[in-house]
Amino acid sequence: RPFRLSLEKLKEVSVRLKKDLIRGLGKHSHHRAAVKMLPTFVRATPDGTEKGDYLALDLGGTNFRVLYVRVVEEQQKVVKMDSKICSIPQEMMLGTGEQLFDHIAQCLGEFLESQDLKGQTLPLGFTFSFPCEQKEIDKSILIRWTKGFSCSGVEGQDVVKLLKEAIHRRGDYDIGSVAMVNDTVGTMMSCGYRDQSCEIGMIIGTGTNACYMEEIKNVKRVEGEDGRMCINTEWGGFGDDGSLKDILTEFDEVVDQTSINPGVHTFEKMISGMYLGEIVRLLLVKMAEDKLLFKGETSEALLTPGQFETKYISEIEDGLENAQKILTALGLNWDPVDACVVRLVCDTISSRSARLCAAALATISNRIRVNRGLDHLKTTVGVDGTVYRKHPNFSEELQAAVRLLAPKCDITFLVSEDGSGKGAAMVTAVAQTTCILPPSQQGATNPAAKKKKSVRT
Ligand code: GLC
Repeated sequence: RPFRLSLEKLKEVSVRLKKDLIRGLGKHSHHRAAVKMLPTFVRATPDGTEKGDYLALDLGGTNFRVLYVRVVEEQQKVVKMDSKICSIPQEMMLGTGEQLFDHIAQCLGEFLESQDLKGQTLPLGFTFSFPCEQKEIDKSILIRWTKGFSCSGVEGQDVVKLLKEAIHRRGDYDIGSVAMVNDTVGTMMSCGYRDQSCEIGMIIGTGTNACYMEEIKNVKRVEGEDGRMCINTEWGGFGDDGSLKDILTEFDEVVDQTSINPGVHTFEKMISGMYLGEIVRLLLVKMAEDKLLFKGETSEALLTPGQFETKYISEIEDGLENAQKILTALGLNWDPVDACVVRLVCDTISSRSARLCAAALATISNRIRVNRGLDHLKTTVGVDGTVYRKHPNFSEELQAAVRLLAPKCDITFLVSEDGSGKGAAMVTAVAQTTCILPPSQQGATNPAAKKKKSVRT
């Protein structure tokens, strides 16, 4: 029952988040804000005239990837020419920053070699899916690691500088201008090329987060009155000041305490793929101990943290036969009623996740509507992430709850095809043509990118 959040409760959560968004935007309040509301220096969504060849790096999701991407103006398409996945071993995720960036530079070097691109200095979009205080589009200070990463010597440092230093240490290739992008921003931008009313980007994968176009006059930390800027909300940190205490369960507390970053990203730990499986596992153990499941017996696998993978939730909700196979593989002695109960547990946890995300998304949509003085808002959200994509009914549940929580917003959901990769190229392209980069870098390394006449902001 504590996992079942009523519509009233979700409305309360939305009101709390609304206050936190304002606190995060404030000049004097943002230092202490749980929801960081980070300016991204992306002032425009694509207008369909961008073009050129780009490199993209994507760090922070399931895998690390390098991509070579072409933005084709005539077809308003972003084409992935080629890409390479490099694994990042867990020791490296917890090792030194230098090792991590050397590995990234090596991976990029091997990719350039294989594409015969080593002699060129292509502009590079770096999707770095962690909270960063962005000073400029190419200067981005890591505030703190989230999800599974905790490399030493990177927090408080400029990530672009660390990347460039690693590349220079090798000395066998160089890169052009760099644009730093959060994955939410990449997702919004990649959808924005197809649908120009896309002004929100949302990720529900390993972590969860969203960005949206805010009026600059409300972003008190950035000078200027006119136009908009994309804000990376870092909504995963919602609740870090204790504001969600009433809805946290004993299981959420354990997930937090046993994570590599206790006390950090409370909202994310109730929602995203890195944690959902563990919540289910803890619940199943408790129910077995209370003799409500598996005749009161557990198994070694069920008692091992991390052994109940989040993907099992999708598989179990997809069909009872899957539930039975997974329970057998986990060494559990189940009967048909157990399988149904386990499915119900999975459904309860994934529903809570979808409904909490809905409350957060509704808060943002309502904010955009009110910002613009509109009675009704029609907008598009670019979405990505394994939980949203792979779960059998997560997206329907989320959308149904958003309709109830933001009745005056008509929201189209667009699943982003490779948002982090292609979107990073898109941001680099828009940056080159809208004066986000210092003049010395605009278009300098990419003759194919052209100056833009008008910009949608
Ligand atoms: C975490 C990161 C955030 C990212 C999200 C989704 O919450 O802090 O920057 O957007 O995961 O990957």
